Amino acid sequence: MTIKLKSTADIEKMRVAGRLAAEVLEMVGKHIKPGVTTEELNTICHDYIVNKQKAVPAPLDYKGFPKSICTSVNEVVCHGIPSASHKLKNSDIINVDVTVIKDGYHGDTSKMFFVGKTSNNPKDNLAKKLVKVSQECLYDGIRQVRPGATLNQIAMAIEKNAFGNKFSIVHEYCGHGIGLGFHEEPQVLHYVNPDNEVTLQEGMTFTIEPMINTGKRHVKLKKDGWTVLTKDGQLSAQWEHTILVTKNGYEVLTLREEERGLI
Ligand code: MF3
Ligand code: CO
Ligand code: CO
Repeated sequence: MTIKLKSTADIEKMRVAGRLAAEVLEMVGKHIKPGVTTEELNTICHDYIVNKQKAVPAPLDYKGFPKSICTSVNEVVCHGIPSASHKLKNSDIINVDVTVIKDGYHGDTSKMFFVGKTSNNPKDNLAKKLVKVSQECLYDGIRQVRPGATLNQIAMAIEKNAFGNKFSIVHEYCGHGIGLGFHEEPQVLHYVNPDNEVTLQEGMTFTIEPMINTGKRHVKLKKDGWTVLTKDGQLSAQWEHTILVTKNGYEVLTLREEERGLI
């Protein structure tokens, strides 16, 4: 296994790509409301990335993926395909996953949004708890990052929070090294696996992107070959950041304004 350590020049470009990806998420929030289709969100993000940022949406044509962002609603775990026939409705939860390429380098990040009004019924309260816990799982994982720490320490922190809240962690999809490549080594598992012991070094860049379910961890693939669903039909939520290992800890390359001071 070869993990590419980034030079100062690489890191400068990763910062730019990361900031652009974060800005897409900051921009798209105001468009997420009942009645909007996921295709419309795709178009808004695509146009912003291409025309305003002069960047490239990495998912488009990546291994045949047909759209520029992933939109994963409710029981969709990840890789949801934007569609003109999918209108968002009140109380939906949606993950928007954005990856941009700028100057050859990738920035990859996602966040959850609530759609419209949520009520205080048990179903909406569980959704709110899931969204909050999955965000904290990401942050707890990020807080482990420093030279000398291991990938399993990140996974352990995520497990502690998810399992402590009686939620499960998806195994089949993971975080990844990132740079000139969209998916580089190492694989960043979100559950502890002694076979995947990697020690972090200054200059590594990778994503952490735990997928947390209210029900069982198992997933199935839709016939479209992309959309990943929970097998039991229960809710799933995911948050993702691109992280740099620094001399003393970490830098979140895809940090949004709203997160300043949180991580
Ligand atoms: N952005 C996703 C990730 O976090 C990957 C999407 S691949 C696609 O790794 F082809 F579905 F876009
Ligand atoms: Co990713
Ligand atoms: Co992503």
